[in-house]
Order: sequence, then C-alpha cells, then structure tokens
Amino acid sequence: VVIQRADYRPPAWLVPDIALDFLLDLSATQVTATLDVERNPAGDGGPLRLNGDGLVAQSVAVDGEPHSAWRMEGDDLVVDLPGEAHQVTIETTIDPTANTQLSGLYASGGLLCTQCEAEGFRRITFFPDRPDVLSRYTVTLTADKAAFPVLLSNGNPMDSGEEEDGTHWAIWHDPWPKPSYLFALVAGDLVATRGTFTTMSGREVELAIWVRAGDETRTGHAMRALIASMAWDEKVYGREYDLDLFNIVAVSDFNAGAMENKGLNIFNTRYILADPETATDGDYDGVEGVVAHEYFHNWSGNRVTCRDWFQLSLKEGFTVLRDQQFSADMGSAPVKRIEDVRVLRSAQFPEDSGPLAHPIRPNSYQEISNFYTATVYNKGAEVIRMMTVLAGSERFRAGTDLYFERHDGEAATCEDFVKAIEDGAGLDLAQFRRWYEQAGTPQVDVAMTHDAASGSVTLAFKQTVPPTPGQPVKQPMVIPLRTALFDRASGAHGGEHLIVLNEAAQTFTFDGFAQAPVLSLNRGFSAPVAINAPQSVDDLVFLAAHDDDAFARYEAMQQLVVQHLVAAVEDRLDDAARAAGRAAIAGALGAILADPALDDLMRGELVMLPGEAYLAEQLNPVDPARVHAEREALKAWLGTELGDAWRALHDRCSAVPYGLDAAARGARKLKTQALVYLAAADPAQTALRAKAQYDAADNMTDRQGALMVLCGLDGPQREAALADFHARFADNRLVIDKWFSLQAGSLHPKALDHVRALAQHPDFTLTNPNRVRALYMAFAANPQAFHAADGAGYALIADLILALDPINGNVAARFVAPLGRWRRIEPQRAALMRAALERIAAAPRLSRDVREQVSKSLEG
Ligand code: ARG
Ligand code: ZN
Repeated sequence: VVIQRADYRPPAWLVPDIALDFLLDLSATQVTATLDVERNPAGDGGPLRLNGDGLVAQSVAVDGEPHSAWRMEGDDLVVDLPGEAHQVTIETTIDPTANTQLSGLYASGGLLCTQCEAEGFRRITFFPDRPDVLSRYTVTLTADKAAFPVLLSNGNPMDSGEEEDGTHWAIWHDPWPKPSYLFALVAGDLVATRGTFTTMSGREVELAIWVRAGDETRTGHAMRALIASMAWDEKVYGREYDLDLFNIVAVSDFNAGAMENKGLNIFNTRYILADPETATDGDYDGVEGVVAHEYFHNWSGNRVTCRDWFQLSLKEGFTVLRDQQFSADMGSAPVKRIEDVRVLRSAQFPEDSGPLAHPIRPNSYQEISNFYTATVYNKGAEVIRMMTVLAGSERFRAGTDLYFERHDGEAATCEDFVKAIEDGAGLDLAQFRRWYEQAGTPQVDVAMTHDAASGSVTLAFKQTVPPTPGQPVKQPMVIPLRTALFDRASGAHGGEHLIVLNEAAQTFTFDGFAQAPVLSLNRGFSAPVAINAPQSVDDLVFLAAHDDDAFARYEAMQQLVVQHLVAAVEDRLDDAARAAGRAAIAGALGAILADPALDDLMRGELVMLPGEAYLAEQLNPVDPARVHAEREALKAWLGTELGDAWRALHDRCSAVPYGLDAAARGARKLKTQALVYLAAADPAQTALRAKAQYDAADNMTDRQGALMVLCGLDGPQREAALADFHARFADNRLVIDKWFSLQAGSLHPKALDHVRALAQHPDFTLTNPNRVRALYMAFAANPQAFHAADGAGYALIADLILALDPINGNVAARFVAPLGRWRRIEPQRAALMRAALERIAAAPRLSRDVREQVSKSLEG
C-alpha cells in the first residue's frame, strides 16, 4: 500500500483525553485504554478508526456499556458511533518480551520501555495513531515492586502507592496535549543522576538521567549538555521548558539514537554514557548533540508537532539545524560546520543520487520508518539554514518567533513553517519552496572570466537538478552562494557578496580587478549543492593557505585532492602529471602542518583526505577498487614524503595531557591522523608506534585511534591490542561495539573473513541494534571489504538482511541502501549487487520496511 501526501484528510474523531492503565509484566502486559472521543467538526462524519498492529481487542465498551457495533478492517478497529461525544474503553494484552522489533512496548534487559515514533503506539493499544490527534494523557502504571522499582511516564507524577501483594503503582499526568507518538513509559530497576535548572521565568525544573546501577558515573557529560541546551534555547530561540520535571532514560536496545517523548526522553545508551576511559571525543560530541537535539524537540516537534508524517522534516530538519547551531556555539563553529558538511556529503549526497532519492518532504511512502533519512534530517537542516543566510539571524529569529506563536499546540505542515518565516522575516520564499519539492543535489557550474582592460570579472553560472525517481524534469532552485574574490597579491578580499541564483543560467559582474582574482565560492557551505568550478591547482593552494573562511579553506584542500584522485582514477595522469599533482598536495599539506596560526582541531580537518563515498560521487560509474587503491597510494606517498613532519606531529601531540579543552582534543585528533599516514607508508615501524600509543593511552580517543590503525596491519601488535581491548572492556557493551566495528571497518585485507568470524563470536547477537550496526554497518561502509570483487561482501549483507528481517525489519531495512548504489558502480560489481538485491526480493516473507527499500532499489 502506498500512502500519498495528497490524500491527507482530517480525522473524523478527536481524542481530547485518554486514560491508560498498564498492568506491567515482561511477557503479558494488560492495557486498558479509555478514550474520550469527540466528533471533529472538520472531519468527514465517518466512523471512529482506531489503528492497531497485531492487537486483539479483549473488550470494547462505549459509555461504560459493552459494545458490539465494531469491526476489524485489517489491523484497524472501526467503531460506528452516533452523536458527538463518547467514552470508548478497550482492553488488550501484549507481550513485550516477544517484541524484537523494539517498536511499541518492549523489554530491554529486564526493563520495560517504549518507542512509539512513528507508528509504535498502535502496537500497544487501539488508537487513532496519527500525529494530528492530540490528547491529554493520564497514565497509571502498576507492576511488581521488586522487579520494577521505578515507574515513569510523561508529564508530572500525580500519585503513587503500594499494595499488599508486592505490587506498586504510579499515576502520571501530562497537561500538554500530544500525539500518540510522544507517549512513553519506562519501568525497571534504574538509578538517577539528578540536576536542576531554573528557567528564564524563574521556574525550577528537576532533571534526572536514569541508567542501570553502575552507569551513573558516566552521566555527567549528558547532564551538562542538558543544562546547556536548556539555557541555549532560551537565549537563542526564546524557548522555555514547560514542565516541572525532565526525565531521560538510557536503554541498551534501541533502534534509533534517541526519542523526544514529552518530559521523558528515551535514549540509546550510546548517546548518554561517556567518561574519558570508555568514550572518544567523537562520542562526547555525539552525547552533547543528541541530548540537545531531543531537548530542542520540546518546542520544534512537541509544542508544534507534525500534521502527518510527510511533514517529518518540519520537526527533524529544524531540530537538526538547532542542534548544529548549539554544538557550534559550544565548541569550534568552523570545525562543526566542516563535520556537518562531511556527513551531508558522505550520507545524503549518495541518497540524493540513488534509487531511494526523495524530497525533504516526500510525496509517498509505504513504510514511514524508511524516511528517517539523511535527506529529511540533514538536507532538511540545510534548507532551513539557507533561510538563515537569506534572512540574517535577527530576521530569521523573528520568523521562528512567529512560527512558534502561530502554531503552538498545533499539528503543522512544512508549508506553515515556510509561511511563518516568510511573514516573520519578511522574505519571499515562493520559488525557494522548490527545495521541499525537488529531490536531487543541484549541480552548479561556474566559469570566471576577467577583462583586464575594464577590470571587470564575470561569473557565469549554470544550475541543473538531476532527474530522480518520479521526477524526470526539474525547475531552477534558489541557491544562495556566499562569495569572495581574493586579490592574489595582497591575499585579501574586499568583502563578501551574497549571490542568489534563481535561474538555469545567470551571470554576475564585479568591477575593480586589475588582475584576475581567486574565487572563493559557497563559503561556509551556504547552499547544499555540488559546485563545479574548474580551479587551477595554484588557486586551490592559495585558498587552502589564505582563505579567511575556514570552511572554504577546508574545501580548497578537499578539491585539490579530489581533482587529483579523480584524474588518477580516470587514467588521465601521466607520470609527470601525477608527480606534479602529488607535489602540490604535499606542499599544501606541509604548509598546513607548519602553520602556527591554526588550532589543532582545525588542522585536523584540513589534513583529512576526502572519503571514498564522496570521491565515488564524482565518478559515474565508479570502480570502488580503483578509488580505494588511488587514495591509499596517495596516503602512503604523503606518509613517506612528509614522514618527518608526521612523526614530529605525533611526538608533539603525544606530550599533551588529557583534557576536554580544544587544544587537548585537537592534539588527540592529529595524533591518530599522523598514525594513519605513517601506517600507510611504513606499516612495520608504525605498528610499534601505534602499540605504544595504545599502551600509553589514558583515554578512549587515543586507545581507539591506535587500535583502529593496528587493525589494518598484520602482526603481533594487532593481536595483542585486540585481545587486551576485549578483556579490558568485556563488561561494557558500548566499548565492545567499538571492538566489533574497528575490525569490520579496517583496512586489513582479510576484513571480510574477520567479519564472518565475528558474526559467530559469543558476544555477537542479532537482537541488539547497536551490536548489529557495530559489525555490519562498519562493514558496509568499508569500501575495500564490502566491494570485494567476487561479490562476497554483497552476499554477506544480503544474508544479514534476510536473517535480521524477521527479528527487526526497521534495522534490517537500513542495510539495503549500500546495495542499492549499484547503478553508479562499474558493471561487474553492479551485476553482483543486483543479484544480491534480487535474492532478497525473492524471499517469501519480507517486512514492509525491507520490501519497500529493495523494490525501489531494483526499479528502473
Ligand atoms: N524523533 C527521533 C529523533 O530524531 C527519532 C525517531 C526514530 N524513529 C524511527 N522510526 N526511525 O530524535
Ligand atoms: Zn529528531
């Protein structure tokens, strides 16, 4: 069944209040739901449609009387009701332990918890499970006190008590009307780290982060991030928290990163637990960013929610932008921007150029879980970021103020958001709306001409949006490009220009240039487009050294390497050209290593080679083995050529003591990068150096970095470090996840065999999403191992999908996209990838999740 955005109809009935009664048990939980229903004046006058998923109604009562005028339509329970208002009571019994999909109410290591977004609530009780039905929830939880000492739900605790039979109960009430996807409950043996926050209007909010006993020593960073997020949202967006209590619970079994349930966020432990010994600097940033993201949803998502799931980017795109802005303010803004662009290019650009491409506001879906994508989230954030570029921050804030004021308490649409920004910020976004409609990454070609006689410079632009499934023809987009023209001699520019493209072809002219300037385009990555501006090596070297926009400096360095590697892969380099290209890169890299004005965090960005997924986007079709070989060869050459500099850098950074300040973090980042280059150049010596880093490590960043390098090498150091790491962290699941993913993602030529063996390891299980991702996502992202010429990597992922699908279709479906890239891969591998997809498609039973992704990946 294909659901169409155009088919939206308001619900026939509303549910202003709901009382939920849970008799909690690991294998048989009884649920009694009492719905106060009212006919929706805007509805079509039809019956009350209550969605279910695998539920059986044990009893249905209307206004307190047993009721028989209901029927099942597929999984839905449909009740014919006369009149305007009734009370409907339904009893169901569910088995949380059998719920391996981790959607709805499920068991996680003796705990009971929920995940309802997008359509998990219908696995708990019959309800109009759609985000435009908002209700006030009163929830009564009853459970055995010894097994489930803590009972949590949304909102505020109202009452609690104990019974003679060893059970206890708690009543929670959430005064804010919310859709069912924001409902949550948690029951189990948990301990809290507590904090407080005083809001700008002076209200005291109690904060608690609930974890398993023993983990409470690792919640400090999450608590700091939560408090900082609350303060930041007040200061930057004027948004204040609206309950007296804010709970976070961390669970080990979770499909996603975290969930913004009103007043009761539920997190994957991965985004809560952190201490220096077990979490890397990247993990710390992940905790800070996700804690902020879920907190920010309290306004962008909960107070203003989505009318239907096609509007998902309304809350996700905006909230990703907000968490990116927050993290930029907490640390290094330029480095954060570069990281965000790297994610976009490596995860979203391939989506946009593949069979699963969709606009940030999709037009149809079969399974909404498949649309929690980099496009909806990250490109969605970029689209709103462009509004900030067009409006400036003050006017943008006026727009968001109007949006929150206008739509508070409502289920809104992306169109509502755009209109509020238009009205509040005073912009005309008529054509800009195409960003919500058209999929595909716009390609912008630019040619610069200089007329020495008149001193004028002309930039001629062409834009095209490539065809995507269902959208063969595209219209021109609004593309804001922050631009600077550098004077070659002085190294300065006379101020930035905002060039806004809105036609297929346009020219812009600038005067006052006796000499041709150096063009710095799309500074700060002001638009999520691919720029094709054939720039000379000299110009790129100039920008890499001199651009005062940090992103543009990074971009010049990336382009320098991309142009060289693409030419190498396409066999366009003779020996002299290869030598010249390498020398230019080494020169630029050497200058960056030596530049005293750079901080090490930024230096760490500038020395990073472009990833293979991004390189692959520049080639069609691509031979992944060639890309890998050329990139490795360049890395090895740079490791040799700049060997002294890398060793000196590694020594210098190794002397910096552990700390969470930018300087110490920068040192740790560079330390492992130096090892990466050195390992490519001199594996034997570097194994010793990496083992020394491993042995000396007093933090996970250094330890993981060293182990990552060792995993790609052969020899006793590799085996010793892997064994030590496993033994040292045997009781910490998040760290054992790293042990799996470092091996699966490694450069070792036998990585594929290692993955096969690891799948049989006693610590491996298909029932824990983190563990599955640790092994198999790392593998699918390992270009060398995944793209093994004989197709063994593709077969391994197909086998995984088939084995995982009956357990957890949501997680299984995530593994289809790597196989779906076959159209842009060289023919022999493409045929093997297709064959793997066809083998999955031939399975007699598939989840809707996997079925949709596989059939779309084969179409066309
Ligand atoms: N709303 C959550 C977040 O981004 C993610 C929910 C994931 N749900 C899903 N079906 N994949 O914060
Ligand atoms: Zn979100």
